[in-house]
Amino acid sequence: MTSRVSVHLRSRRILLGITAGIAAYKVAGLARLLVSAGAEVQVVMTPSAGEFIGAMTLQAITGRPVREAIFDAQHEAAMGHIELARWAELVLVAPASADFLARLCAGMADTLLHTLCLATDAPIAVAPAMNVRMWANPASRANMKVLGERGVMIWGPASGEQACGEQGPGRMLEPEALLEKVRQVFASGRFAGRRVVLTAGPTREPVDAVRFVGNRSSGKMGYAIGEALLREGADVTLVSGPVALPVPAGARVVSVETALEMHRATLAEVADADLFVACAAVADYRPVSTASQKIKKDADTLTLELVRNPDILRDVAAMPERPFCVGFAAETERLEAYAEAKRRAKGVDMIAANQVGRQQGFEADENALLVLWEGGRTRLPQQAKTRLAEQLISLIAERMDAQTTTQDT
Ligand code: C5P
Repeated sequence: MTSRVSVHLRSRRILLGITAGIAAYKVAGLARLLVSAGAEVQVVMTPSAGEFIGAMTLQAITGRPVREAIFDAQHEAAMGHIELARWAELVLVAPASADFLARLCAGMADTLLHTLCLATDAPIAVAPAMNVRMWANPASRANMKVLGERGVMIWGPASGEQACGEQGPGRMLEPEALLEKVRQVFASGRFAGRRVVLTAGPTREPVDAVRFVGNRSSGKMGYAIGEALLREGADVTLVSGPVALPVPAGARVVSVETALEMHRATLAEVADADLFVACAAVADYRPVSTASQKIKKDADTLTLELVRNPDILRDVAAMPERPFCVGFAAETERLEAYAEAKRRAKGVDMIAANQVGRQQGFEADENALLVLWEGGRTRLPQQAKTRLAEQLISLIAERMDAQTTTQDT
């Protein structure tokens, strides 16, 4: 298992406040890092920040118009300032000037950024940047103490040479360091810092230009597991066959159609994953050849020759540096015996077995699971797939932790 810490920022809504300071020129780099990490970034500048960095640059990077004025009819109509305060999951002010911090401390609301800081429920982080003497001044010291006591996160400043030529604390933290801090804010939940690859849905094996061999999988179980993992802070990549479900917010989806495509995409994604959950109903066989045109119904009988598809789960479980592997087993009879045999044959850490054929399993909203692992088993009773997914990932977390502990000792 890898130790890579990857807290996803996909779809995280970050309000990036910029105040007047020479370090503002570096914020374009920070905005780019946040956007590259998947975050949605809304820049709000104080009126004089524009002296140090152009709004057009930030708009181009973030893809959103920069907000500046409190009373701005055009932008207020699109998203009012209170709405904007509610939209944010994190307010990060970088650089935060001495003046901005003093006003924040006093609870002033004379700029849009100050108003938002007063109105938001989101955590607020500030990256102070100012002259070393201004930072050391008792007024700044007192302000920082109060802000810290109010729960404002104070990131930095760093020490070093300053633009004014003096040495000491007062430099804004570098964009990479600030990105790391942002990741830490969102690193909560049992799967925080864990990268998960999940297959879901059916595969379609083309017979000709318009027909395919497929199955009834709706993808509901896989998507519910993806959503539960995202809620627990995981970085989720969903390799999904064709389904009619919305993309879980924050997941990266790789859309595939055939088993071969799913196999290729999964092996490409799984290299540095901590967990692999194979929830897809992969077609066991595919037509040996695909007709490029629609097959005409001239003959009374038609024989399709099929060939075995690769087993994605087995191949991932056989990797030397493999993630924790969880598979599913849909059985119509002898549930436990067949599922246990499958667990061993595929060499996976855990298997979740379900009885199919009786209002359960495919397409249904409810399911029940018998979960098996080396030396243990538990039954998760029939319930909504969303609830079931939560219980299953909780079991997975327990087993992953137990395995890590065993490896460490
Ligand atoms: O062998 P069986 O299809 O019953 O195994 C089911 C489990 O194996 C599921 O977790 C499924 O996602 C996975 N599987 C796979 N690749 C295949 C067939 C099954 O990953 N070709």
